[in-house]
Amino acid sequence: MPAPARGAYGKMEAVPLVPPYIESLRPYEAGRTIESVRRQYGLTRIAKLASNENPLGASPKAIEAMAASLHGLNYYPNGGLDLREVLAREYEVKVENVIAGSGSEGIMSNIIRAFLCDEDEVLTTEAAFIGFQVLAKSRGVKYRTVPYADWHYDLPALAAQINEHTKIVYLANPNNPTGAIFTKQQFDQFYKHVPERVLIILDEAYFEYAKDNPRYPDSMHYRYDNVITLRTFSKIYGLAGARIGYGFAHEELIRNLLKVKLPFEPSTPAQAAGIAALGDKEFLHRSLELNARGLRFLTEGLQSLGLPVVPSQANFVMTVLPSEQEAARAFETLLAQGVVVRPLKAFGLPNCIRISTGTDEDNRLCMEAWRKIYVADAGTAKAG
Ligand SMILES: Cc1ncc(COP(=O)(O)O)c(C=O)c1O
Repeated sequence: MPAPARGAYGKMEAVPLVPPYIESLRPYEAGRTIESVRRQYGLTRIAKLASNENPLGASPKAIEAMAASLHGLNYYPNGGLDLREVLAREYEVKVENVIAGSGSEGIMSNIIRAFLCDEDEVLTTEAAFIGFQVLAKSRGVKYRTVPYADWHYDLPALAAQINEHTKIVYLANPNNPTGAIFTKQQFDQFYKHVPERVLIILDEAYFEYAKDNPRYPDSMHYRYDNVITLRTFSKIYGLAGARIGYGFAHEELIRNLLKVKLPFEPSTPAQAAGIAALGDKEFLHRSLELNARGLRFLTEGLQSLGLPVVPSQANFVMTVLPSEQEAARAFETLLAQGVVVRPLKAFGLPNCIRISTGTDEDNRLCMEAWRKIYVADAGTAKAG
C-alpha cells in the first residue's frame, strides 16, 4: 500500500476504533447564527428564535461581575465552590448537596459517566431534549422511550416501563421541545412507582418561567434521595454563552459526581456571572414579563392561522404542521425573511417547529413572516 502523502490521514476502512453506538450518532446541529443568515439572505434584521435564549441579553450585573473577574484569569478556577456556597445558602442545603458545572448539560454528562453501567437502561419520553438524547446514546446503553400523551410526559406509562435494568429516568419540566409541564399531583403519583435504585433526573432548565404556576412541582420542595435537580443560567439569566449551570442532590450523589467532573469547570468568569445574575431580581422580573407577553402573542397569532400550539410554560412554543414537508417549507420561508426558528426533525418530531419568544419586535417580525406563508397560501387556494 502506498504511504499516504505527508500531512494527510490514511483511509479508515472498518473504523474499528469507533464503537457502533458512537458511529451511529448524529452530531448535534447548532442553530444558525445571526451572521450566517444575514450573509446568506442579505438581510439587516434577524430574529433569532431558535435556541430558547433570553432576547434581552444578559443581566448587566452579570456582565459587570464577569468583566471584574477577568483580572484573575491567570489562576485556575475553584471548581464552582463560590456558586455552590451561594446556592446552598439560598436553598438552605449543604454545600455538599450542590454541584456547579459548564451548563446543566455539563452536569448531565457527568451523571451519565458516573452512574451508568453497560447493562443499565435509560428511560424517558419520545423526542426528549436533544442534548440528553445525544449524551445518553453516546454511553451505548439501552435507551427506551414512551410516547407523549397529548404532548405531555405520560408519567403513568413511564412508571409502567421501569424494569430491573432501569437506572435513570429523565424528566424535563417544563419540557423542551413541547413547553408542557407535569403537575405536582402527577409527579407524586409517578414517584410512588419508582424504586429507590432508579435515579430521576429532573431537568428544570426552564424552572423560572414555570415556578409561579401553583400546579408546578418545584423539585427543591421534594429533596428525595434518588432525585437530582438540574438548573441553568443559560435561559432566563441570559448566560448561554458563558456555560454555567448547577444541580442539587443527595450528598452521596454529588460526592461521586465530583469525582468525574472536570475539576476546573465552571470557568471563573462564568461563575462570577452566575452569582451576580442570581442577585439581579429586576432583570429576572423584566425577562419574565417580556416572555409572558411573547408567549401570548405567538400562541394567539399561530392559532389565528389555524396552527395548533401546545400551551407552554417555558420561553418557547411548539407548533404542529400537517406534514414534514410543510414544516421544512415553513422553516425555509421564515429563514428567508430573517426569522430563525427550530425545526424539530432531529428531536424526532419532523412535522413540528419550536419558536422561542423574542423581543416584542422579534415576535412581530415572526408573526408577519408566518402570516405571509399562511395568508398567501389561503389566497393561492382561493384563486386556484
Ligand atoms: C431541557 C433543557 N435542559 C438543558 C439545556 C441545556 O442547558 P445548558 O445550556 O445549561 O447546558 C437545555 C437547553 O436548551 C434544555 O432545553
